[in-house]
Amino acid sequence: MTTARFPAARFRRLKASAPLRALARENTLSTGDLIWPVFVRDGEGQREAIHSMPGVERLSIDLVVEAAREAADLGIPAICLFPYTDPALKTQLCEEAFSPDNLSNTAIRAIKAAVPDIAVMTDVALDPYNINGHDGIVRDGVIVNDETVAALVKMALAQADAGADILGPSDMMDGRIAAMRAALEGAGHTNVAIMSYAAKYASAFYGPFRDAVGASGALTGDKKTYQMDPANSDEALRLVERDLTEGADMVMVKPGMPYLDVCRRVKDRFGAPTFAYQVSGEYAMIEAAARQGWIDGELAMAESLIAFKRAGCDGILTYYAPRIARALNGPR
Ligand code: PBG
Repeated sequence: MTTARFPAARFRRLKASAPLRALARENTLSTGDLIWPVFVRDGEGQREAIHSMPGVERLSIDLVVEAAREAADLGIPAICLFPYTDPALKTQLCEEAFSPDNLSNTAIRAIKAAVPDIAVMTDVALDPYNINGHDGIVRDGVIVNDETVAALVKMALAQADAGADILGPSDMMDGRIAAMRAALEGAGHTNVAIMSYAAKYASAFYGPFRDAVGASGALTGDKKTYQMDPANSDEALRLVERDLTEGADMVMVKPGMPYLDVCRRVKDRFGAPTFAYQVSGEYAMIEAAARQGWIDGELAMAESLIAFKRAGCDGILTYYAPRIARALNGPR
């Protein structure tokens, strides 16, 4: 009798039909994984296209509130605000950053009043308010750390007072998490969460974002003296450890797709809630190719986002949040 020859393992068996593929699937993306970054501008009824981020707009506060309501209805747990600040308000000491009535703080109050069931996240960094476009205060060409941290603490307190649920320090100064946590506790904001931009790289992929918040024109030089060298990942672990020790509740790796290995290392080492930011340049690359008809945009969006789950992330900040949520909620 002859023995039939067959492959030892037929991996194709569990790929043969959609139900079998569903059973064998290791990771899932759900609307509860999403944080939606939105750009806020002044005025009313204003919606303004951003050239380098097709499909993304700057919205006046009334329309941001509508967007927040739509996001909540889609099951998106959080919205993250980025203000486009009037160039006339930019100064060397960035005072507008901690004005209780700046665009971002006004938007927080409006959203919390109208859409109580969505969490509001903020950005804590001075770049939208800085005549230099840097995340920190610049003195004689140097980004000064400790003076910046003092300003960031004031900014964080103003955001917490306005009702922010999650603060997102994206500035990469040393010691800012401890300083903010102490100030929040001192002010009675014991339940305001901090998602530290812990492993934030000095990246070319932020270009479209800097257009969106009007910081590109202002920026002199680069951010290499505070953001991470793309060649490093041991350093990312040390930064995450430091920020968790100082009182961060969640940590972020940014950008996302080029740094999936860092996401995985962070999650494996610390097990803390780990997020990736699929940044403006990642979005712009996918959209540019999709709009040329060079890739299928809908499929590329979904594939890019499941990659973060596979890399161990608990959630993703993505400009695709409403679009992927609609796809996830719609007919399968
Ligand atoms: C500002 C900030 C940046 C981003 C989020 N917060 C830009 C930068 O550091 O220059 C980038 C987000 C994106 O590109 O989508 N501190």
